Amino acid sequence: MKSVAKSSNEERDEKVFALYEQLVEIEQRLIPTGLHIFGRPSSAGEKTDLLKMIASFDRPEVGARAIPEELLDDAVREFMENGIDAAVSFLGSEETRPVFTLLESVSTKLKTNNEIDSLVRALRGEFIEPGPGADIIQNPDILPTGRNTHAINPYGVPSAAAFARSETVANSILTRYKNENGRYPEAMALVLWGLDNIKTQGEGVAQALWLLGTRPVRDALNRTTSVEAIPLAELGRPRIDVVMTVSGIFRDLFSPTVQLLDKAVRLVAQLDESVELNYVRKHVLQQVEQDRCDLDDAAVRVFSNAPGNYGTNVNFMVMDSQWDREETLGDLFVTRKCFAYGRDSKGRAFEGTPARLAMDRALARVEATYQNIDTFEIGLTDVDHYFEYLGGVSKAVEKRAKARPAIYLSDSLSREVKIRSLEETVRLETRAKTLNPKWYEGMLKHGFRGVAEIENHVSNTFGWSATADAVDDWVYTEVANTFLFDERMLERLRDLNPHSAHSLAQRLLEANGRGYWDVDKDILEKLREINNSLEDQLEGVT
Ligand code: BEZ
Ligand code: MG
Repeated sequence: MKSVAKSSNEERDEKVFALYEQLVEIEQRLIPTGLHIFGRPSSAGEKTDLLKMIASFDRPEVGARAIPEELLDDAVREFMENGIDAAVSFLGSEETRPVFTLLESVSTKLKTNNEIDSLVRALRGEFIEPGPGADIIQNPDILPTGRNTHAINPYGVPSAAAFARSETVANSILTRYKNENGRYPEAMALVLWGLDNIKTQGEGVAQALWLLGTRPVRDALNRTTSVEAIPLAELGRPRIDVVMTVSGIFRDLFSPTVQLLDKAVRLVAQLDESVELNYVRKHVLQQVEQDRCDLDDAAVRVFSNAPGNYGTNVNFMVMDSQWDREETLGDLFVTRKCFAYGRDSKGRAFEGTPARLAMDRALARVEATYQNIDTFEIGLTDVDHYFEYLGGVSKAVEKRAKARPAIYLSDSLSREVKIRSLEETVRLETRAKTLNPKWYEGMLKHGFRGVAEIENHVSNTFGWSATADAVDDWVYTEVANTFLFDERMLERLRDLNPHSAHSLAQRLLEANGRGYWDVDKDILEKLREINNSLEDQLEGVT
């Protein structure tokens, strides 16, 4: 008896601990609490929050160590109120000086806001001083704002730091898949974006290279123009086949990188290795056999839009409710993205050759899809681009592989790299943002635009139902409770922006109508009434 009681206690403790961990995760999630207003410097409160975030990471480039979490609030307050010397003596160590010197410089730059001035000067055709493009927490040198953002030297991608960091990410994805499925995925589909790879100096690119089991090689001019295979014995796992769908922006900005990725696949496909440890080779040989094609065609893995084209349009189809069957969304993704980029064995470049069959074949083998998230400012439900890309490719895989892939996202912003499933990430975003009063009250301060942002979040969440069935019923129920069934809140929304309030009600009805939200009849009835009254309001009936 005693041992049974003990084990149920242990079980309870484990559950409580897991719950505790989840709560801490939501509590510590960095979220933006309002929109940036063009031309306006940050408020004191925003500034303090930002400085705390900056001070919570090690900054080896300026010799600064992160301030320990338990001292962070007080140390930053001391710095804000009494300056560097006071903050250093508060922490009792001269070694903490570099972090406050950094905060001082950020703090000064935050007071300067050149946005409106630069815009006016740009419109006059004058010179605008350049500045780096990056996430503010990752690289505070982006300040002051209002400069001409320059991107990156594509030959510097991936940077040594990005490549080193990405080994852990690639291994964590594979470990998670293996824990859930008992073996490694033979093929994965990755989404690569341009702006993200600018911000991280190519972490997404580096992750693809790691999965393939390759490393970048620099030439005499220190340009990354080639790759070499990491020996299997060193890699300690099979080489994963990687299908890369890259955005139009990535294709345009990172043309040499597109060539590098294609080169990596072709190098790996031709290694004299067992197909059980080299899934790229395995699949390429299978395809040569199956389609009687040559190796050049069977090794196409980098896909993007046709030259001059951008986007998947999956977001527009979802937003406008212009679709009937889910598979249409995946098919549209392939129609837009089935153009191959690379170089064949004779050295001939192909830049946007239509390759629908090759893409269908490559996606049919995919068992996991993945995208790297590298900023706290833009997450899964902030914009429609995550679901158009990661959702779009996952839906395309589902039909072609005849099974839904595992869908993962990484969080390479946190100090510890974290891999989450899509479902976990949607839950986290919902709790940390959409349903978090700190977030939505921050948005509502912006009036009309704020309500539109809330509605956007709900629609983007719906995008994850449409493309991946990744949204729990409670999400829609709590959205309805928070924004429409709370009379005071509904009143505020319809005052500020009845159009978005109406779209929100419509989207919830659509979620139910398409089978993504299983809900009681009376709740649905109440929702219909609210929807009708919003329609009356918009038509001017009172
Ligand atoms: C990109 O940076 O590649 C990108 C940005 C927004 C939407 C899609 C792609
Ligand atoms: Mg469901």
